[in-house]
Order: sequence, then structure tokens, then C-alpha cells
Amino acid sequence: MKILVTGGTGYIGSNTVVLLLKAGYEVVICDNLYNSQIEVVDKIKKVTGKEVAFYKTDILDREGLDKIFNEHKIDAVIHFAGLKAVGESVAKPLFYYHNNIEGTLALCEVMAAHGCKSIVFSSSATVYGKPESVPIREDFPLSTTNPYGSTKLMIEQILQDLYVSDNEWNITILRYFNPIGADETGTFGENPNGIPNNLMPYIVKVANKELPHLNVFGNDYDTVDGTGVRDYIHVVDLANGHLKALDKLNGVNIYNLGTGNGYSVLQLVKAFEEQNGIEVPYVIAPRRPGDIAECYADPAKAYNELGWKAERDVVDMVKSAWNFCVKNFK
Ligand code: NAD
Ligand code: UD1
Repeated sequence: MKILVTGGTGYIGSNTVVLLLKAGYEVVICDNLYNSQIEVVDKIKKVTGKEVAFYKTDILDREGLDKIFNEHKIDAVIHFAGLKAVGESVAKPLFYYHNNIEGTLALCEVMAAHGCKSIVFSSSATVYGKPESVPIREDFPLSTTNPYGSTKLMIEQILQDLYVSDNEWNITILRYFNPIGADETGTFGENPNGIPNNLMPYIVKVANKELPHLNVFGNDYDTVDGTGVRDYIHVVDLANGHLKALDKLNGVNIYNLGTGNGYSVLQLVKAFEEQNGIEVPYVIAPRRPGDIAECYADPAKAYNELGWKAERDVVDMVKSAWNFCVKNFK
């Protein structure tokens, strides 16, 4: 089978492409390199020993997409391409709606024109808004608190409407919890430009002495130690969920991809310090607007229907995150 991976040079995309190639799929990557580097393509070839076709194409470019589908018989698409920074989406909503929504519309139109009607889409736990309880099941109410989240929720709706209009489509929507870590070779990790917004890349930059200390956003939540609790998931487990989803594409389905376990900010910091033998200085700072106390998945549906569960623990996550930094930035 030949899979088109949009956003395939990005953080989650590159880890997924590696697993796809190792599993024997042929892979075509389409990425405009807005948030990733061309070098990733060679690294994928080196780590897997396999060939991969790469197109520096924007998913908004219908002619560019058409060319890919003319040159390859694509069986299914895994659609990672999108912008993902919450704060930036508040500052530049039109940019986010244009890129994420119109990009997905163009992609689906070109897919349909070429008779390719199978897609796995990267959604996010952000579509649960402020959940009333945890663990979160797929049938919980949906809402969003920022334009990034709204693009995810709107795309979910668009894909479901598409299926209603034409049930030859097979659509699997994966709602990721908090992916962190890197592959075992330390090649495909997360390295945001500038000051990171997310916790794990921030911890790594503090550990690497690029930033003086971590700001812990609030220690007065109703949680185990007062700091925010999230469902951190190893990026390789997350990537593996996409292979399971490809195996079972059938109608419209929605799955949480999380571990089902919550870790607090301070628990993650402590695990990082203990496993890597490095101190991570922190100060307690005010709550971050829009944050919730606890967010973790009920991953039972993905286990029951896809046969997928997360296998790597928090020790693997914090060690691999640091290994990626050591291999690439020290
Ligand atoms: P990433 O930024 O590393 O990867 C996204 C890739 O898409 C980048 O390589 C970027 O260059 C590319 N891209 C963006 N717009 C494009 C366009 N118009 N045309 C072609 N390529 C384009 O992000 P990631 O962390 O790997 O996330 C992948 C997907 O998963 C995104 O859709 C993101 O919203 C979603 N997601 C990520 C997280 C997370 O915490 N990382 C959580 C939930 C959902
Ligand atoms: C954030 C986004 C979410 C997005 C997800 C993955 C917000 C409000 N939510 O989720 O929409 O899908 O990233 O990209 O931005 N923390 C600190 N100090 C820091 C950074 C984070 O204490 O410097 C805390 C946060 O308060 C939170 C936890 O660490 O309790 C995790 O934060 P983060 O990694 O940003 O993820 P989310 O907020 O879960």
C-alpha cells in the first residue's frame, strides 16, 4: 500500500513515516517545510534504509497535490499538515483558519477527484474544551477555547459531513493527548523555534541551560500536588496508533490516543531529573489563562476497536526527550 503523509517531515509525521516504512508501506511525503526541515527526509532514509518520495508542496496548492496523485497511486492519506501553536492562533486566526481548514478542503477535493477516499486525521484533545470530568471519553461534549482548537473541531465536522454525502469515504479521526519524547535513535524529536509553549520542550531547554528556569503555571489546582495534570504519550506510541488506524479504516471513527494516566507538572519534572540526572530549576508562576486542572484520556475505545494501547512509560518519554537534545543540540 502507498500512503501519502501530509506534514510528514514534522514531529509526529516523521515518527509515523519511519514506522510505516519499517512496516513495509510505500510512503510519499507532502510538506511545505513551514515548521520542519528538508534534512528530515535524508534522516528518515538513513534510519530506515528505505526510499521515500518527498514533495515540497503546500496542501493549499491544488495543482501541486494533483501532481502528487498523478505520479503516485495513493491508497490512503495520513493528514498531519497544519499549524498548531495555540497562542499564535489567537493572534493570527485568519492564518490558522486559512491554512488548516482550506488546506484540508483542498486535500479532500483532490483525493476525491483521484478516487482516494481513505484518510486518517490528526485531531486533538483540545476539542474537549474544559471537560466536566476525567477520564475523557470520545462521546464527551465538544467545545474549544482558541482558534487552533476550533480548526480541529471544524475539520472533524467537515470530514463527518463528507462521509454523510458519500459513504465510500473511510475516515478515522485521532484525538491526541500530549505527545512528548523522541524515537529510540534520538533523530526525530521536537524542537520548536524560540521559547517553547509546551511543557516538555521547555523542560529540555532549561536542562540544556538555554533557559534559566521553568515557570510552573499554578500550584493551586485541585490535583495531586496542585499543578496541572496531563496525559503525556510517547510520540512513538502515538505514531503506532496511526498504523493501527490504517489497518481498520472503515466508515467514520473517532479515537482518543492517550495512555489513560495523568502526570502533574512537578511529577514530570521530577521524573526528568531522576532519569537524566539533571536538575531542572523551577519557580511557581500564576496560572496560564485557559488552562484546565486535569486532562487525561479514557483510551479503551482505541484498545477495543483498533487493538492499540500505549506501551512506553513516562521513564521512556523523559529519557528519549533528553536523548534527542543530547544527540542534536549539545
Ligand atoms: P509539526 O509542526 O511538527 O508538523 C506539522 C507539519 O505540517 C510541519 O512539518 C509543517 O511544515 C507542515 N505544514 C503546515 N502547514 C502546511 C501546509 N499548508 N502544507 C503543507 N505542509 C504544512 O506538528 P506536529 O506536532 O507533528 O503535529 C502534527 C499534527 O498533529 C498537527 O495537525 C497538529 O495540530 C496535530 N496535533 C499535535 C499535537 C502536539 O502536541 N504536537 C497535539 C494534538 C494534535
Ligand atoms: C496545549 C494546548 C492544547 C494543545 C496541546 C498540544 C493550551 C491552553 N493548550 O495543551 O490546545 O493541543 O498543547 O500542543 O495551550 N506548563 C507549565 N509551564 C510551561 C508550560 C506548560 O507549567 O512552561 C504546564 C501547563 O500549565 C499544563 C502542562 O504544563 O498544566 C502541560 O502544558 P502544555 O504542554 O502546554 O500542554 P496543554 O496545556 O495540555
